[in-house]
Amino acid sequence: MEWDNFRAEVLQCTKCPLKDSRKHIVVGEGPEQAPVMCIGEGPGYYEDIEGRPFVGHSGQLLDKILSVCGFSRSTHVYIANIVKCRPPHNRTPLPEERTSCLPFLLEQIRLVNPFIIILLGATAAKGLLNSDAGITRLRGKWILWQGRWVMPTYHPSALLRNPSLKKDAWEDFKLVIDKYRELVNPLHHSDFH
Ligand code: URA
Repeated sequence: MEWDNFRAEVLQCTKCPLKDSRKHIVVGEGPEQAPVMCIGEGPGYYEDIEGRPFVGHSGQLLDKILSVCGFSRSTHVYIANIVKCRPPHNRTPLPEERTSCLPFLLEQIRLVNPFIIILLGATAAKGLLNSDAGITRLRGKWILWQGRWVMPTYHPSALLRNPSLKKDAWEDFKLVIDKYRELVNPLHHSDFH
């Protein structure tokens, strides 16, 4: 019921100007109570068309990374974004767009109740932590945020643009697997660690 109310509220949102250019609102996707939550920036071209998060090129890479870690979107990971509507031409969401959408994300985190949150990229880190530190400085270090373990790492689109960042991203995901074994399932199997 809470989820139904939440979805209904998001799906009728007109709080910011992104409402004018969106095709679909992308609420988020995954188990309603997932141990891990990934937070991206906002819908891109394909997400806006389909109404689902991370279905384009970045999404394919994210799926691969999660699968090597032994995670899937159907069982372990809920995926959300800082803003639920696509910014025109995929520009970075404006601070006021982030701010007006943040209550939805906070409610989503409360409902999913994840042990671990993975912040994908600088906009996600800025949006949730309200920190101006760059992702290069934040990544790879756990932050305890409101009782949840938060790992900032690179956005998959950064990894596609600059494959030399992948090595660091794998280190970050190894830490996530360690934490998952510590908090959720000591026997969790992953293909690389
Ligand atoms: N990039 C994001 O940050 N989120 C999506 O849902 C898709 C691409």
